[in-house]
Amino acid sequence: MADSPDAPFIAANQAQWDERAALHLESTFYDVDGWLRNERGPKSWEVQALGDVTGLRLLHLQCHFGLDTLAWARAGATVTGLDFSPVAIAAAADIASGPD
Ligand SMILES: C[S@@+](CC[C@H](N)C(=O)[O-])C[C@H]1O[C@@H](n2cnc3c(N)ncnc32)[C@H](O)[C@@H]1O
Repeated sequence: MADSPDAPFIAANQAQWDERAALHLESTFYDVDGWLRNERGPKSWEVQALGDVTGLRLLHLQCHFGLDTLAWARAGATVTGLDFSPVAIAAAADIASGPD
């Protein structure tokens, strides 16, 4: 991929997502502390759409720092989140480990 003519654009995109992940972690929009405290699962319309996910395996592409991914884990799915931002994935692992 490093030899691809797209490589500089991919690197620039990833760098801005790394930066955004750090900003989003502190934002009231994502409200990570509240999410950890409130044990929020998937939204009601999402549950209505997918039904009972207990025991199902879920692959979430572009998972950011995993709030939606982990919400499905709370609903009983076995989840895997993928993202190209190492900042987002490190935060997802931290959030998955629960409140400090
Ligand atoms: C808008 S955020 C996802 C938001 C998430 N669904 C949520 O509600 O929190 C987009 C995510 O896609 C990731 N992303 C963007 N382009 C990507 C690519 N080409 N490959 C993998 N991940 C990518 C970014 O790092 C970012 O975490």
